Amino acid sequence: NKPSILVARAVFPEVIARLQQHFDVEQNPADEPLSREQLVARLHGKAGVFTTGGERIDASLLAACPQLRICANMAVGYNNFDLPAMTAAKVLATNTPDVLTETTADFGFALLMATARRMAEGEHFLRAGKWNKWAYDMFSGSDVHGSTLGILGMGRIGQGIARRGAHGFGMKVIYHNRSRLSPELESECKARYVGKEELLRESDHLVLVLPYSAQSHHSIGAAELAQMKPTATLINVARGGIVDDAALAKALRERRIAAAGLDVFEGEPKVHPDLLTVPNVVLTPHIASATVPTRLAMANLAADNLIGYLVHGKPVTPLNPEVLGS
Ligand code: GLV
Ligand code: GLV
Repeated sequence: NKPSILVARAVFPEVIARLQQHFDVEQNPADEPLSREQLVARLHGKAGVFTTGGERIDASLLAACPQLRICANMAVGYNNFDLPAMTAAKVLATNTPDVLTETTADFGFALLMATARRMAEGEHFLRAGKWNKWAYDMFSGSDVHGSTLGILGMGRIGQGIARRGAHGFGMKVIYHNRSRLSPELESECKARYVGKEELLRESDHLVLVLPYSAQSHHSIGAAELAQMKPTATLINVARGGIVDDAALAKALRERRIAAAGLDVFEGEPKVHPDLLTVPNVVLTPHIASATVPTRLAMANLAADNLIGYLVHGKPVTPLNPEVLGS
């Protein structure tokens, strides 16, 4: 008698096949995000759920699903989980750290470069058939090499971006984080710890890589944007809501900063309409971890957590391990 689980969105067939060796697997056949009511209804009788970052797991859902024992997120970020509520309900939460670090750091750096060098603007111009002559000032951007790279949120992904900037592009790296890195990691990343004000003031390219929480909500709003250099670029590969998107669109329109590169948005997949009309922003649909091997590794790690916990009592990457002892 296998335990039952729900896979809330479509994922790799080979990962579903692995899960089916251990579980009765119910999938979301339409691959539309489930409404709250659908999620609760489908979770009825399930011991585990494979989530993908969009499914809100909170006290009222948990109260309606007393058989649920584990929620395995296929994402490193887990702001869709109310972790204290899950711990109180003795429901294990897991995420997918490490397997996406380098892939996501690559993308953060790609977005930085595309933004600094105005690649999206140039492409739109060319595709629109507007390229009919050379001009000395056509799409001049800002340099990446030798500039100051600022990182807000110095977790594993932030460190990956710092290494790329320092070692690959000779950038001066400064960072701000809740806690300082060890001296060894600071020297590996060639990164100097600074206060948030100095980070805002000194960065030529400021990359946001911090987790979303009530504390990080609107970490970058009008007041912070006003402290940045008018030539600066802002890159967000973290979460929507860390930036006040309306304030950012206004700052971009008024050229109070030069440009932004955004992979995440407040209320995504909706995007603030003002961001869609300003030219100096590169917009991508939350794809920083999207390479085939990395997405497969993330899906397999989420599956490992479900199998590890429900079959063997040992999850791989638990977020609230205190549930295990209780
Ligand atoms: C993606 O946003 C993730 O958190 O893995
Ligand atoms: C966050 O957990 C990160 O890996 O940066």
